[in-house]
Amino acid sequence: FVLLCLYFGVLSGFSAVTEQKQTESLNGKWSLSNSDGSVSLPAQVPGCVHSALHQQGFIQDPYFRFNDLSYRWIAFDNWTYTTIFTVSAQLRSKQKVLLVFDGADTVASVWLNGITVGKMNNMFQRYVNMLKDGDNVLKVSFLSPVLYAAEQRKAHSAYRVPPECPPDVQKGECHVNFIRKEQSSFSWDWGPSFPTMGLWKEVRLEAFDVLHLIQVSSVPLYSASDILIVQNVKCFVFYIILQSVQVKLWWPNGHGNQPFYQMTVRGFQDEYLILNTETKVYFRTVELVQEPIVGSPGLSFYFRINGKPVFLKGSNWIPAHSFQDQVTPAVLKNLLQSAVDANMNALRVWGGGVYEQDLFYSICDELGIMVWQDFMFACAMYPTENAFIQTVREEVAQQVQRLKSHPSIIIWSGNNENEAALATDWFNISVSQRPTYIKDYVTLYVNNIRKIVQDEDHSRPFLVSSPTNGVESEQEGWVAANPYDTHYGDTHFYSYVLDCWDWTTFPRTRFASEYGFQSWPSFSTLQPVSVKEDWSYGSNFTSHRQHHEDGNQQMMKQAALHFNLPNSTEPLKRFRDTLYITQVMQAQCVKTQTEFYRRSQSEIIDGRGHTMGALYWQLNDIWQAPSWSSIEFGGKWKMLHYFAQNFFAAVLPVGFEDDNTLLIYAVSDLDHNLMLRTVVTVYSWADLGPVCTLKSDLVSVPGGSAMATFKQPVAALLAGCGRCTRLTCLLTFHLEDPSSVQQGPTNHLFLCSPKEAQGLQRPNITVSVHEYKTDYTITLHSAAVAPFVWLDVGNIPGRFSSNGFLMVSRNVTVSFNPWRPTSVAELSKSLTITSLRDVY
Ligand SMILES: *[C@@H]1O[C@H](CO)[C@@H](O)[C@H](O)[C@H]1NC(C)=O
Ligand SMILES: *[C@@H]1O[C@H](CO)[C@@H](O)[C@H](O)[C@H]1NC(C)=O
Ligand SMILES: *[C@@H]1O[C@H](CO)[C@@H](O)[C@H](O)[C@H]1NC(C)=O
Ligand SMILES: *[C@@H]1O[C@H](CO)[C@@H](O)[C@H](O)[C@H]1NC(C)=O
Ligand SMILES: *[C@@H]1O[C@H](CO)[C@@H](O)[C@H](O)[C@H]1NC(C)=O
Ligand SMILES: *[C@@H]1O[C@H](CO)[C@@H](O)[C@H](O)[C@H]1NC(C)=O
Repeated sequence: FVLLCLYFGVLSGFSAVTEQKQTESLNGKWSLSNSDGSVSLPAQVPGCVHSALHQQGFIQDPYFRFNDLSYRWIAFDNWTYTTIFTVSAQLRSKQKVLLVFDGADTVASVWLNGITVGKMNNMFQRYVNMLKDGDNVLKVSFLSPVLYAAEQRKAHSAYRVPPECPPDVQKGECHVNFIRKEQSSFSWDWGPSFPTMGLWKEVRLEAFDVLHLIQVSSVPLYSASDILIVQNVKCFVFYIILQSVQVKLWWPNGHGNQPFYQMTVRGFQDEYLILNTETKVYFRTVELVQEPIVGSPGLSFYFRINGKPVFLKGSNWIPAHSFQDQVTPAVLKNLLQSAVDANMNALRVWGGGVYEQDLFYSICDELGIMVWQDFMFACAMYPTENAFIQTVREEVAQQVQRLKSHPSIIIWSGNNENEAALATDWFNISVSQRPTYIKDYVTLYVNNIRKIVQDEDHSRPFLVSSPTNGVESEQEGWVAANPYDTHYGDTHFYSYVLDCWDWTTFPRTRFASEYGFQSWPSFSTLQPVSVKEDWSYGSNFTSHRQHHEDGNQQMMKQAALHFNLPNSTEPLKRFRDTLYITQVMQAQCVKTQTEFYRRSQSEIIDGRGHTMGALYWQLNDIWQAPSWSSIEFGGKWKMLHYFAQNFFAAVLPVGFEDDNTLLIYAVSDLDHNLMLRTVVTVYSWADLGPVCTLKSDLVSVPGGSAMATFKQPVAALLAGCGRCTRLTCLLTFHLEDPSSVQQGPTNHLFLCSPKEAQGLQRPNITVSVHEYKTDYTITLHSAAVAPFVWLDVGNIPGRFSSNGFLMVSRNVTVSFNPWRPTSVAELSKSLTITSLRDVY
């Protein structure tokens, strides 16, 4: 067994199994029944009970109105999947036949012809059983996950393992930390409680003649001369043929391409070719750099890819549906392409969901999306008795083996927020009991998970938690006094009460891995799961879908700091305007915060800075409800996602005030230096067309940096512009190169809250729609300056080239790319335009 790799720091991978393996799928139609047989129906595998009940008409859409409550009974019952199959003669001729479950959700016993042949209790694990000849009746009996979690909790009597239950506002189930299952399936602050059950991944038979099943799943870190001989499979010889030696490297989006190689793997036994397979291989290195910084206490925290420091721009990923069988390739492709189209280069797969399907990571490989991969533990303490540890060990080993060949994954992280939960006492653990919980924490994440990951994969960094102080946390015994310390590691930061336009309220962290604000999805997304009486901000439905305590009020209060709230006397318009204003608030808040992080990448101020990551919470939604997402359930972009396209641009001007002085920074993620001039244009709220324009000198902006390119006291700037005051004027600005070619988007800064702006008028925007090749162009004509101009075509799926923008000129043209055939007539009929002055 010989492996030859030609590049140091190679990350490559393949899984190879002998050609003589035969497989037969057991996917397809099974039958499904509940415990007393009162419900019996056909069910698709892979799938789940809820999806089967809905598909067969036993229940309505589980997402409709209050159905999460109506269908609570489903997860309290036990359900049995049954199929009958024959082992074919061909399979029977093999020496060994295995029954393989790629994933079962969650607690189940496997019965073959009336005899129990296996037990399963971990959603994230693959299970393999031996099989016998002939006709077989295969039954998989699932126990209610809610009952199981409660039983496990009861059995753990020595001390509590909090939290016992989610907050009431989440309307969820208790003790999810006692079951190895998607933690958010018992409810979350953005999602419903649907504790799923079922065979959620493939079921199949695998048969062999040979005794060895060869699984080579990765080739980490071999230098040019290394030859690896694996003793126990010496009857096999593999030749790995790289088609080139000039190795091209995989780069994150925006930093280069994502080239791959076809690798050929051949296996011989007694001179017979028994294996000949091809696989994709990528090459790249990753380092997490934590080292002293001049002028700052603490340590740096940034990623180096192929030796180059890279600022991580992106968001956090949650499960794309409560029912994983409904996360289709199209759903994944659309969401991940949306991330790339918003100039993101990174996503964090958050630890309260699932290890995503293979396709997710393959698309990330192809698109250059770096993945921060959590293990599936979130916002809780976990038990550590032997059975639990053993199943977690198997889960971690299997998941790392499955995923480690993907270059997109750049880091493993043990859990979400559990270090912080211990350190800042979320669960009222007494001082005398603390050591017990810290011991459990270290046992689970350090002595087991970290150990297994490091044995399986030397090619990537491992962090125990997020947020964490990294090596500083380790020195403090793995639970730092303050895991949110801005001098170390990553931070999560949320404040809904402080004014989000005030950048001084944000922590100047090394790496912002979570921050965000809620908004409501648009009316067209809510409409299919609601009825007329639901369509007001004070309705039962509106409260029901809000799973974050006080969330609806927080959004209105944050919005009211700067905007007049919608007050139309027409109820539906008022509701729609309210949805709009929450999106305006969210987009502006996350923009301000993200721009703060990006402009902090090169500076140290009061010992803080060198920020090298901005991953806002959260990219996607699990259902139609208010949340921190920038993309609605179904794929429609919120205003925030259109804003992200700009605030994550490779070259970006960022404007802000510091002590009444206007500063503009140029941020560049490019490789090379740019000569840039800053152009500031002053407009009056009352009139279209510029009042005056200022230009800075050309300055050299190094690649991968942020630096001030314009500085002037606001009072002097306004005085120099004639009739302007803070209340009557606003600014736009952009960067241009020596030949006056604009680099990056045009940005803007308001010098007062728009609710105080003098002269802002109803813009009375009119539109004309034209067909243009496969797209449509929409020309807007405005009578006045219009902030946050929002185009909405209801339920016609698709995407605008730009949206939520500031109109300071009479005419603007945008395009619309539909995802299904439409027409000028249909678009014109559906199109609504809303701007800030239209809602009050
Ligand atoms: C589900 O199975 C458990 C364990 O056998 C049993 O205690 C429980 O009563 C069953 N639930 C129903 C609804 O039959
Ligand atoms: C916290 O725990 C103490 C006992 O350790 C108890 O007296 C107190 O009521 C608890 N507080 C809350 C908020 O649960
Ligand atoms: C809202 O829910 C409450 C409690 O279930 C109910 O009493 C009330 O009638 C509902 N209101 C409306 C407008 O449906
Ligand atoms: C928009 O239309 C309203 C109503 O006709 C009018 O009062 C207002 O002046 C118009 N706005 C502008 C900027 O012309
Ligand atoms: C703007 O659009 C209007 C009406 O569509 C047109 O009459 C006018 O010429 C346009 N102005 C410019 C500057 O393009
Ligand atoms: C809505 O609010 C605006 C701004 O406060 C106010 O001028 C207007 O009269 C209000 N309209 C209604 C219908 O209350």
